[in-house]
Amino acid sequence: MPKPTYILGIESSCDDTAAAVLRQDYGGVSVLSSVVMGQDELHRMFGGVVPELAARAHVEKLDLAVEEAITQSGVKLQEISVIATTAGPGLIGGVVSGVMSAKGLSAALNVPLIGVNHLAGHALSPMIEEDVPFPYLILLVSGGHCQFLIAHSADRFTRIGGTIDDAPGEAFDKAARLLGLPQPGGPNIEKAARNGDGSRIPLPRPLLNKPGCDMSFSGLKTALLRARDERLGGDNTITASDQADLAESFQGAVADILFEKSKRALQRYLEEKPAHRSFAVAGGVAANQLIRARLQEVAEEFDSKFVAPPLKYCTDNAAMIAFAGLQRFNAGEQDDMTLSARPRWPLDTQSPAMLGYGKKGAKA
Ligand code: KG4
Ligand code: ZN
Repeated sequence: MPKPTYILGIESSCDDTAAAVLRQDYGGVSVLSSVVMGQDELHRMFGGVVPELAARAHVEKLDLAVEEAITQSGVKLQEISVIATTAGPGLIGGVVSGVMSAKGLSAALNVPLIGVNHLAGHALSPMIEEDVPFPYLILLVSGGHCQFLIAHSADRFTRIGGTIDDAPGEAFDKAARLLGLPQPGGPNIEKAARNGDGSRIPLPRPLLNKPGCDMSFSGLKTALLRARDERLGGDNTITASDQADLAESFQGAVADILFEKSKRALQRYLEEKPAHRSFAVAGGVAANQLIRARLQEVAEEFDSKFVAPPLKYCTDNAAMIAFAGLQRFNAGEQDDMTLSARPRWPLDTQSPAMLGYGKKGAKA
């Protein structure tokens, strides 16, 4: 029987330093370890990710994350047969750190090096634990990105819509800052929203009735700022109850936009009579329970299978990078020591670039 393939994945494109080991054999692919070292503490006092600090922290933590992933996997470093690393898009300093670290390991172990598109990592993440055949429609919704993609294969994607300004995760993070909640914004808004009643403070749903599946979130953020300012007390703060109501209203508006636009995207996808009626979601914002539930409703309405990866594979992680790297490796592809970091790297190179810049640079 041929030896199994052990692939080490590395991720450092934003503020998480991550490493994972996957095993591939005749039985399929399994995740042996997935270590994520966050940097929330480091960036907390700045209210957002500071790229220079993030890059330095990646340099300090990459070796530790790899060591921990190897230890937890039970595999020896010398048994690793492939190294995959995020080569973009993302914050350039962080991506360079990961690429350099992967090159060092590849040279030392004399094994193939594979550069992975971070967005492909997210877009293929639903397949890590579930058997999801191509093609499928996927909503990729994270801190830096928001797009509807038809995944035809592991390396061919068609974008059929996306945000024209902020990504929803970015909007959640900014909204949390406006409401005095800690970063990352998404989970903290979700928590605060549990005690709130958004109907008390309605917020707009930009572009909701415009045809197509493009989205906009920046007007919603401005509306939240106004609604908050109307409620500021003499001490320049809002009450806990207003905070919860605003959080609930904001989350509801984002969920409504994603719900409505997902319906249109799925309808459009199904018009092409694809071989599989599957709708998947991935990326950090897919960790939100309300948003997951609303997207599931969309899939049910259109008699389609809904696929959402477990929460640990929604937010940034290296298991998805190793998994996407394996697909390239299995297709006979690999990179060499000329692999370079690409801050901008759209998945669908045929579609024109969308407008706007996010925390990770130009939107793909
Ligand atoms: O995919 P990810 O870890 O990093 C990027 O590639 O951007 O996504 C991070 C984003 C952050 O903006 C964070 O606020 C958001 O995902 N997020 C959430 C939740 N958990 C993380 N947004 C809404 N609800 C959540 N539960
Ligand atoms: Zn990501």
